Amino acid sequence: MEVKVDGYGNVAGTLVLPMFEDECSSEGFDHFGVHRNLLNMIEHVIDAGDFRAKEGSSLTIHNLEGKVILVGLGKSADFDDDAARNAGASLVAKRGKQHGCEFTARLSCMNSSQAAAYLEGAILRDYSYDKYKTKDDDDEDEDLVLHAQVATENIDLLITATGTATQVATGVHLARDLGNAPPNHLYPMAYAQEANNWAKEKSNVDVKIISYEAAVELGMGGLCAVGMGSDRKPCMVIFDLNPDAGNQPPVIVGKGITFDTGGISIKPSSSMDEMKYDMHGSATVFGLMQALWASGHEKRIIAISCMAENMPSSNAQRPGDIITTLSGKTIEVLNTDAEGRLVLADGLWKAGEYNPSWIVDLATLTGAIVVALGHEATGMWSNDDDLAKRLRVSGDACGELIWQMPLLPAFEKEMKSSKIADLQNIGPTRWGGSNGAAAFLKQFVQKQSDDEDAKQIPWAHLDIAGTAWGAKTNKMVAHGATGIHVRALHHMITKQ
Ligand code: BES
Ligand code: MN
Ligand code: ZN
Repeated sequence: MEVKVDGYGNVAGTLVLPMFEDECSSEGFDHFGVHRNLLNMIEHVIDAGDFRAKEGSSLTIHNLEGKVILVGLGKSADFDDDAARNAGASLVAKRGKQHGCEFTARLSCMNSSQAAAYLEGAILRDYSYDKYKTKDDDDEDEDLVLHAQVATENIDLLITATGTATQVATGVHLARDLGNAPPNHLYPMAYAQEANNWAKEKSNVDVKIISYEAAVELGMGGLCAVGMGSDRKPCMVIFDLNPDAGNQPPVIVGKGITFDTGGISIKPSSSMDEMKYDMHGSATVFGLMQALWASGHEKRIIAISCMAENMPSSNAQRPGDIITTLSGKTIEVLNTDAEGRLVLADGLWKAGEYNPSWIVDLATLTGAIVVALGHEATGMWSNDDDLAKRLRVSGDACGELIWQMPLLPAFEKEMKSSKIADLQNIGPTRWGGSNGAAAFLKQFVQKQSDDEDAKQIPWAHLDIAGTAWGAKTNKMVAHGATGIHVRALHHMITKQ
């Protein structure tokens, strides 16, 4: 989609007129360039009570002079940036063929931050994953053009805001493409190849791939144990944006299970197809790097994707195996379906080698977080209140809610209760499973220095199992992968 911001001027294509319930009148918007006949019809429809601007309502008027969609925004007092983002998304979602591909949205009822959110919503929602649909010749989709008309004093601000939103959306859409990709096409080394292609011809990015053989050599026992049952071998992909721009870069780590069958502890077959999304942590990581690169971020950031396919086979790991991770810590694998934490054990330890200012990991880690929070919020665990707060505030600002959960010593104790290894990969009971998983990950966050009483590197774990797909209330997404937290993390890194 192309967004062009300007003042109230001539109308191109279909006119879009958002209105509040409490200001629903033909005087509630700027009339410039709207034909008298069309204005009369708008007046008539409103006077007759056929359009009251209730939230979510819309009415199309069509005459010889043009087309207009009246859009209801509900009560002005209830309208915030989230509502504006949803309204922008719903313009794109609900548009019909009859409305054409060119729209003029006259946003006179919104303040500048609402107008920016409205346009961001439209940009984000303009996405479809139709790569594998055979197209008819007359099916050619045309690019949308959206003329946003705003008060003169807001034009500059909105040009900047939509520019950034467009850049960030390239990252969100990349994350969604990766998440939606079928697991036969997107396997660990295919992801690595995509990362390499992405880095080519970008002078300020390095991508390094740690192959399966190299990972074995380095002692990445978690990553290798999970991936060894598949013919499509595991790998670690390390993105380095602006590698020459300073020390103590933040590091983002993503779980990238391109398909999670559960391994030998195999999953039931219902909805197993959804386990293609089990790499959404790594999809977000890649999308975030794209968003930061596209928006011209100048500081150094590192991202680590832990890629593996969790398959049952004669060379798969077994329940009962003991593995040695990159950290040197040993894990008794009691359930091969608790595999995300095994690959992240190595990814988090590796992250610590960069002496980072902070680490955030993203993972579709547990079904239990979907039980706890549904599809409405990501679960967060952190050893650092400041980092946790920055994440929560950024999530709120972007409409990508992040909800803090407890990181409790009792769960650490449970995960350390193996009789024969340092750790076990599942807790002794099923209760509080997401907390146990987070407590397990904490064991692989390095300390800030070698001092005996040094604190751990500030770290937060985001369990995105409920928010990476299937979030029906996420209006930016029709279906499939959501690209969750590309925006929240971009916001935190660039604005906080
Ligand atoms: N990828 C799954 C978590 C998951 C399940 C995400 C359903 C979204 C929807 C993860 O690898 C897993 O299988 N976790 C197990 C852990 C258990 C064996 C301790 C789970 O949640 O059941
Ligand atoms: Mn699993
Ligand atoms: Zn998994």
